[in-house]
Amino acid sequence: MEQSKTNIKINASKDATIHYKGDVAKLYNKNRTSSLKWKREQKIMEKIISNFSPKSIILDIPVGTGRLIPFYDSRSHKIYGIDISSDMLAETSKATKGTNTDIDLIEGNIEKIPLRDNSVDYVVCMRLFNLIPISTLVIGLKEFCRVSRDRIFIQVRVIEDIGLIKLIAKMLLDSRTHINSLTHQIIILLKKTLNIIKGQSNKGKNEIARENYYLHRKEDIYDVLRDEGFDIVRTIEIDKGMDFRKRLYKPFLIIECKKN
Ligand SMILES: C[S@@+](CC[C@H](N)C(=O)[O-])C[C@H]1O[C@@H](n2cnc3c(N)ncnc32)[C@H](O)[C@@H]1O
Repeated sequence: MEQSKTNIKINASKDATIHYKGDVAKLYNKNRTSSLKWKREQKIMEKIISNFSPKSIILDIPVGTGRLIPFYDSRSHKIYGIDISSDMLAETSKATKGTNTDIDLIEGNIEKIPLRDNSVDYVVCMRLFNLIPISTLVIGLKEFCRVSRDRIFIQVRVIEDIGLIKLIAKMLLDSRTHINSLTHQIIILLKKTLNIIKGQSNKGKNEIARENYYLHRKEDIYDVLRDEGFDIVRTIEIDKGMDFRKRLYKPFLIIECKKN
């Protein structure tokens, strides 16, 4: 695979490993939980996790602020929540208070997962693969293959060149996503206008949104998964993002894979 062509890098202002600190960690949930995309992901992950065998060992990496904790809190699972950011782990720690979740929170990197070979049944990896280049993603998948025994669930936004007709059809099939993102853009514009009217600067207001963002091609993600020892079981589309100017389809996916 030709690695240099496999991803588009946007907003290379901050490295993902240092971005999730301080206010970014504290405000992480507040800035996201009301979005339609987040709600859909939660609903789908709740269903997926409810089908895990009881007493499973699950690796959630990056565990972030522990968004999936409520879904683990049953069926006697053992969870390893790993993240590179101690501030995000501190938020997860708060989320576990008052729950019965059996969870070990560990500061660690996807490139060198601090767990033994074949030590977990499932790996759950939400919202990381767009923050790392394909070279790191390959290392991460090798690690998933090493530590896991059964299935992995990865979430990633990809790009696909599907042509204009199919793009329009996809858009019509998911009008809710587009109305939602249009509303979001209008709200941001209104907030900025209000700031200008109040004589305040808009500079730095989007700090939280600024981080490395990589868009990988869907076929490259599939190739890497297969190369690293996984069969693709199913792909669920959370939303049907698109870029009409470039005529690119940009779906937000959850991909379920089985170790082969
Ligand atoms: C967008 S958040 C996703 C968190 C959570 N999975 C979710 O869906 O809300 C990205 C997370 O990846 C973590 N992260 C970034 N690079 C990492 C790496 N190389 N290894 C482990 N975690 C990493 C960050 O600290 C942050 O918590």
